[in-house]
Amino acid sequence: MKRETFSSGLAVFLATLGSTVGLGNIWKFPYLTGQYGGGAFLAVYLLCIAFVGLPIMISEFYIGRKTRKNAVGALQALRPGAAWQCIGIMGILSSYLIMLFYSCVAGWVYFYLFKAVKGDFDGITMASAQLQFSEVVLGPAAPIIWQFVVMAVVAAILVMGVRDGIEKITKTLMPLLFILILVCDIRALTLPGASAGIDFLLQVDFGKLTATGVLTALGLAFFKLSLAMGTMITYSSYFTANNNLYATAAKVALSDTLVSLLAGLAIFPTVFSFGLEPSAGPGLLFMTIPLVFSQIPFGNVLLVAFFFLTSIAATTAMLSLLEVPLAYFTEERKMSRPKAAVLNAGLIAAIGILATLSVDKSSLLGAYTLLDRGFFDWFDYLSSNILMPLGGLLTAVFIGHVVRKEDILRELSNDGHLKLGGLFNCYYFTLRYVTPVLLVVVFLHAVGVIG
Ligand code: PFF
Repeated sequence: MKRETFSSGLAVFLATLGSTVGLGNIWKFPYLTGQYGGGAFLAVYLLCIAFVGLPIMISEFYIGRKTRKNAVGALQALRPGAAWQCIGIMGILSSYLIMLFYSCVAGWVYFYLFKAVKGDFDGITMASAQLQFSEVVLGPAAPIIWQFVVMAVVAAILVMGVRDGIEKITKTLMPLLFILILVCDIRALTLPGASAGIDFLLQVDFGKLTATGVLTALGLAFFKLSLAMGTMITYSSYFTANNNLYATAAKVALSDTLVSLLAGLAIFPTVFSFGLEPSAGPGLLFMTIPLVFSQIPFGNVLLVAFFFLTSIAATTAMLSLLEVPLAYFTEERKMSRPKAAVLNAGLIAAIGILATLSVDKSSLLGAYTLLDRGFFDWFDYLSSNILMPLGGLLTAVFIGHVVRKEDILRELSNDGHLKLGGLFNCYYFTLRYVTPVLLVVVFLHAVGVIG
């Protein structure tokens, strides 16, 4: 059977952006930016993208498009039988781990969208916001059911294939996400006192930029750009032959950052306009947002829009995660696409129950901890803090020091059709000498060797 590809450069861009834009833009990026010094953090984040994110992304694009195979098959095609295959295996493993907890949070988002449509947040107070959130999180039945719904939706889209599934959905939903976020922005920025929120997000304050802040920026750049998960290898194996891989990587990274900033501009002006303190992560998304949005004119419509756009972001990111094992099972294990989709989605939904029931100490499985971490936290920690920097490091070493330079240049220049000039040398030098050093530092920080 002929292997599918995306149909155009626009499709490549939107599908890849669909992978990078996710829950990270809405609940991680804005808050961390505010916490670690606004514009100062942003500047460091952009440097991390330039020196680590883009080189790794371009390298993964090289691996995927050159071989046109799934994450494991691709590495094997480049170095048959060699240990470098572990980059692909680790990628599949991390995509599973991320999905286990990501699908849980995505389930909450779907549930909140449903609740917003039903009008559950009318007349909400701080106390009832907390109560509703803890009901959603503790369940136990509801969050598990919604997690299954998420996996079913993602699997159903993927069964349709690369063009009819991933491409069609991201081409429709990514522009819609953008419009919805702008609607939320316009409303938020026209509220009285909105400027305090803008200041929180963008005021440059190097005093707040600690060493932890810098390392956080690097880790965030990795998670945000969906790197070392096998996703970019898998997606780029469907890229068009004439795609300019540099341009795609740069456009995706910049657009993704723009979406994060727009999300921050929808959230913080509203929060500050009501005199509230922004909280981190789940609290911000699931308590503060319903609380403040329900108090402004047309707030309920806005709340539906907000949770709808968050659902889109979570879903398109999940598509790219599940496609990693899907491509592996269909190509290496000769399974049919529907069978691989149902099997993998079912498996993740089933094991994901462990994450869903261990979110909080008072969750059903909350008492089962190892080194003070429950299942949810372990899945997150292992994927984001261990496998991601390690996978990135191996990728940088493999492409920068093992694969022949001419082979890389030929693929990245589309067989000499693109004149890359100094761009290639910049990329190659950074990948060989700068990226690995930075990744070693992140890794040592993640495992607690350096503070
Ligand atoms: N980039 C996504 C986000 O910011 O939410 C999360 C993600 C998707 C991470 C796909 C890794 C991945 F392979």
